[in-house]
Amino acid sequence: IRPIIIDTDPSPDDAVAFLMALASPGELEVLALTTVGGNVPLHLTTRNALMALELGGRGDVPVYAGAAGPLAGALRTAEHVHGVTGFDGYDLPEPALRAAEGFAPDRIVELVMARPAGSVTLCCLAPLTNVALAMIREPRLAGHLHGIVLMGGSRSEGGNITPAAEYNIHVDPEAAARVFASGVPITMIPLDCTHRALTTAARMARLRAIGTPVAEAFYHLLRFNKTFNERQWGTDGGPLHDPTVIAALLQPHLFSGRLAHVGIECHGELTRGMTVIDWWGVTERQPNALVLNRVDAEGYFNLVIDRLSRLRPA
Ligand code: BDR
Ligand code: CA
Repeated sequence: IRPIIIDTDPSPDDAVAFLMALASPGELEVLALTTVGGNVPLHLTTRNALMALELGGRGDVPVYAGAAGPLAGALRTAEHVHGVTGFDGYDLPEPALRAAEGFAPDRIVELVMARPAGSVTLCCLAPLTNVALAMIREPRLAGHLHGIVLMGGSRSEGGNITPAAEYNIHVDPEAAARVFASGVPITMIPLDCTHRALTTAARMARLRAIGTPVAEAFYHLLRFNKTFNERQWGTDGGPLHDPTVIAALLQPHLFSGRLAHVGIECHGELTRGMTVIDWWGVTERQPNALVLNRVDAEGYFNLVIDRLSRLRPA
């Protein structure tokens, strides 16, 4: 059973991801959720994490709040994609749960360093600020991790927040640059995968047919983003980004890609936050990530539906 920490800025896709992990106790042990400012400000990402845990009946998992904004500059939120609360589209009760004591980067360090080297995997579903801060606080952290699996970046899809950059990397490129240069084994799941994993009408119908309160809530919550994407792009559904991270841990055969060097552009006027991937090995730079660029979308949704079906809180 693999111990993981999930760093997140909950919009609904983040919450589907951590609930899937919690519904997989035979494979994954979720040590904590850590929240960061991202899609919406930190107080809302923390609230949304607590709300989703309460909905899933998993108030036993600690939630630690972390950085409110990136290492440099102001936070760029994405209310247009997920609504002003980050959880628009379904009225969940205000959570009775509270965040646990402590600053997320410190807790990440403590939780990882308390276990044997090579055991804990960080699952990153958000801007990488907390992870970079943890690495700054404890320089041995990168060498002590089993690895990082992250949703972020883009190889040949262009960007979703600027023409060049994917949201999670664009919000804190300095943090991403630090993480990618840290030497930790990274599995990166870029837009190339998630843009092929859409919440189509057929998949949403399967989600709703699960018939539990959790499934009903996510059916409505995911519709906000689905409608946004359909209007914006004319697609059937929006990308279900972050659960790919958990799927890659549970069923790696659903994905394929290759080892490559990933550089993070921190300076470009038009390209800040771009992931520059040496896919064809045209530099001498050694690979620093396994970049997954293909996903079996049907298999992925089967897994999402299967794990969400298991969540039947009393
Ligand atoms: C990323 O941005 C967020 O809106 C999603 O949750 C995902 O982590 C996709 O670019
Ligand atoms: Ca996210």
